[in-house]
Amino acid sequence: MPTQSFLELSDVPEPMFQRLIERSLWHRYNRSYLQTARDRTLGMLFFNPSLRTRTSMELAAQQLGALSTTIIPGQGTWGFAWEEGVPMVGEASEHIKEAVGVLSRYVDALGVRAFATRVDYEADRTDRALHTIDRYADVPVINLESAFFHPCQGLADASVLSDHFKGNVRRKKFVLAWCYHPRPLPMAVPNSALLMASRLGMEVTVAAPSGFALDEGILSRAAAIAEAQGGSVSTVSSLDAAVEGADVIYAKAWAGLNAYTNADQEAAQRQMHQDWRITDHRMKRTDSGVFMHCLPVRRNVVVDDAVLDGNHTLHLDQAAFRLHAAKAILEYVWDVLPTSGA
Ligand code: CP
Repeated sequence: MPTQSFLELSDVPEPMFQRLIERSLWHRYNRSYLQTARDRTLGMLFFNPSLRTRTSMELAAQQLGALSTTIIPGQGTWGFAWEEGVPMVGEASEHIKEAVGVLSRYVDALGVRAFATRVDYEADRTDRALHTIDRYADVPVINLESAFFHPCQGLADASVLSDHFKGNVRRKKFVLAWCYHPRPLPMAVPNSALLMASRLGMEVTVAAPSGFALDEGILSRAAAIAEAQGGSVSTVSSLDAAVEGADVIYAKAWAGLNAYTNADQEAAQRQMHQDWRITDHRMKRTDSGVFMHCLPVRRNVVVDDAVLDGNHTLHLDQAAFRLHAAKAILEYVWDVLPTSGA
């Protein structure tokens, strides 16, 4: 049985959360190739595309002395069936239960990227695909972005903030800003960003137009976490009001919850908010704040060139920290994380 899956950062107990940040920072400033994970193998199943997650995880494994292999289901693999107790008479030749059972016998940890279905909210809210794989796996499972969470991004972002503010993150004003996007994007990144900033004890504001609130359960969980850490969570429906005096603008597009029940209505509603974009003018109203985005980002739709090409942005640092955080996560799931320092 897996002993240390990494499915969601907010489930990691407080001392380990801090240790993972500390270790990511250690990897940032001590970029030697280590052998802490020698003789291990990482397997990764990418049901969806990736640039940063795939590259950073593959390189992290190699730089720790491990091997890695990446599988893209549907590209050279058998089609997978997911239903249990059903005759497999359709196109799928292999059940996910055997696929994961087999991979568990080849690798020492299994990374999984499985985005939201965007048709079944209950399946997405409970991360059904990820948890199905975790149940079938005999090795730790790493969430490489599921329907509802992106903990690898969350750890990289927490580490970037800790680095940028030199450890003084608590009570800084963090604005999670909904931005317009032509496609109905999932909520994994905003959910993890909200929980991460709350965990750091920041004053978090979620700015989103009517109809684009995040899941109520995530909002109340974030509020409880923030309160325990001396911070807060609030929601507003004006981007201009939210950016005033902010220390961090974390931009992200996500679909309205009615995308699950009425996609046309959600799209029409989203179209009305094309002015929800991070401009240089809005950044100037912050308190010398920094811009953050997990990438990929659509220039001049989500954020203007002037912001991305300016000096008050951490988006490339966030991408860089994906590698450092990935190393800390692999050390965590393989139980080779040093107890302190190096
Ligand atoms: N931010 C992020 O997860 O990037 P990729 O989708 O390219 O992996």
